[in-house]
Amino acid sequence: MKIGVLTSGGDAPGMNAAIRAIVRVGCNRGHNVVGIRGGFQGILDRDLVELYPRSVSRMINHGGTVLTTGRSEEFRTEQGLEKAAGVLRDERFDGVIAIGGDGTMHGLHALKQHWKGQLIGIPGSIDNDIYGTEYSIGFDTAVNNALQAIDKIRDTAESFQRVFLVEVMGRHSGAIALHVGIASGASAILIPETPTDLKKIAQKIISGREAGKSSSIIIVAEGEETGGASVVGEKLSEMVGEKCRVSVLGYIQRGGNPTRYDRILATRLGVRAVEGMIAGLDGVMLGEQACEIVETPFEKTWSVKKELDKWMLSLMDELAT
Ligand code: F6P
Repeated sequence: MKIGVLTSGGDAPGMNAAIRAIVRVGCNRGHNVVGIRGGFQGILDRDLVELYPRSVSRMINHGGTVLTTGRSEEFRTEQGLEKAAGVLRDERFDGVIAIGGDGTMHGLHALKQHWKGQLIGIPGSIDNDIYGTEYSIGFDTAVNNALQAIDKIRDTAESFQRVFLVEVMGRHSGAIALHVGIASGASAILIPETPTDLKKIAQKIISGREAGKSSSIIIVAEGEETGGASVVGEKLSEMVGEKCRVSVLGYIQRGGNPTRYDRILATRLGVRAVEGMIAGLDGVMLGEQACEIVETPFEKTWSVKKELDKWMLSLMDELAT
């Protein structure tokens, strides 16, 4: 078989581990594995690179994606999709494995309407907002990256007895904020999924101060839905009568060495994607549920909303006393 592999959308630590697994297992089982550079745009540009077991050495520990990534406008159009299908036919691909977030699953679904080859998705996104998998590749590393930074911010917060608002990634998903909030011992989280009662948070900070609480860390998910840490920080400063400090963590969350969890998840999904290809699997994203690899049709990965863990959400308030 000739199997293409690409990464699309935001890079996520662990993508390289998935590519490595796909290449090693694909080649070892007698198939050709071709890297498509720059996401779906790489199909349109015929930006292809033949991969061999040795081409993927020393990359399991690296963040980002060696295949490079992108968000292609041309690929979103009917003409672009038709052109991509033509290239895939012309280059005699049997199947393509794409690693990415919900945009990538949309892309695969759209391509399916134009091309008869096999398509398999692997969830790679720090946001962890894709239905069909408990965790997506990169989430665990991003949460750990944020935690390391917040532990440092806590030193200043405690030394000065300050209130800090820390902005984490996830435009439309509070998964990073929720996990970071619980694991950093934050006082509150602001996420797109639930309404924010800023007065209640201000009251909590004031009463915490009176009870001897030395510092408060509030985690804010980025984006319009929460308003972002700077806007929230100004409002909160007025309410609590002191200047709240703001720290936006940004892209440091998305880079760096993947954790053990992300490397193993990526490897398992990569191997199963190749095995699926060989067995004729098509039109699904692979994911992990209760330690098992499961398959979800592309459409379901975005049409069913992935809910945040309600129990963990409910704990936030009680733990932050
Ligand atoms: O989807 C991953 C993500 O890192 C989001 O958390 C963030 O909102 C977005 O990508 C940023 O996108 P870009 O890389 O285009 O700035």
